[in-house]
Amino acid sequence: MERNPLLSLVGAGPGDPELITLKAIRTIGRARVILYDALANEALLEYAAPGAIIRFTGKRYGCHALSQEEINQLIVAEALEHGHVVRLKGGDPFVFGRAVEEITAARNAGIAVEIVPGISSALAVPATAMIPLTSRGTAESFWVTTGTTRSGSISGDVYLAAQSTATVVILMAMSRLEAIMDIFIYYGKADMPVAIIQDGTTASQKMVTGTVKDISFRAQQAGLGNPAVIIAGEVVGLQADLLPAYVQGLTATQKKPAPHEER
Ligand SMILES: C[S@@+](CC[C@H](N)C(=O)[O-])C[C@H]1O[C@@H](n2cnc3c(N)ncnc32)[C@H](O)[C@@H]1O
Repeated sequence: MERNPLLSLVGAGPGDPELITLKAIRTIGRARVILYDALANEALLEYAAPGAIIRFTGKRYGCHALSQEEINQLIVAEALEHGHVVRLKGGDPFVFGRAVEEITAARNAGIAVEIVPGISSALAVPATAMIPLTSRGTAESFWVTTGTTRSGSISGDVYLAAQSTATVVILMAMSRLEAIMDIFIYYGKADMPVAIIQDGTTASQKMVTGTVKDISFRAQQAGLGNPAVIIAGEVVGLQADLLPAYVQGLTATQKKPAPHEER
């Protein structure tokens, strides 16, 4: 175990505890302190070394979340006292992960920093739901944008993305879903397919599909909330053909094939 101060920013993956890298597991196992966020699956804490200090920094069960400044201070204090600190963060630390602030705080305190990339929800959540982000003849690129900015307003990038022919993946957008879909409507995309996936890659995953013009209503009817990924683009229409027949909903008279019968 590392006694010199070291901060490892470790990607915990999108939710499914098996979607983590081997390097992340090994890094967690070497840490003396683990500070984990709400989107990091707690099952991953089983890789912690015996005696490691484990602290939750997110907001859950009515607990107050630490502010980013408090987290920065905690990282520095724990690293200087105990040595190796792992910041276990949902998805990839460099995708909307406040990693820059934490690296800056650590560096300013003379603490070494390393990054262990993770599988971002932006990629893994659509993939697990059989929605490709690119597909020959359908989409040549994709955008990943936040829906909202620090002030709660809609990101200017959503307006640009809505004008492109790319697949648009939007994170942190549920609070402004209707207004965001109105932007797509304004740019003539009312009938574009959209999927919203909550708690993607986990056992509690919920998904709603529709079009730009009706997805807000459908999401509200289904009670969808955070954390959720919105995917807007023609690729969403490919999902129906890619999902195995037993998921697409066979008629009651048809025998459901077992997953191993699907080829
Ligand atoms: C602060 S960002 C962190 C993103 C993370 N660093 C990543 O790479 O996935 C949090 C947002 O990621 C998305 N998100 C993260 N995990 C998710 C999951 N399992 N299902 C759906 N959306 C998820 C949601 O949009 C959520 O509001």
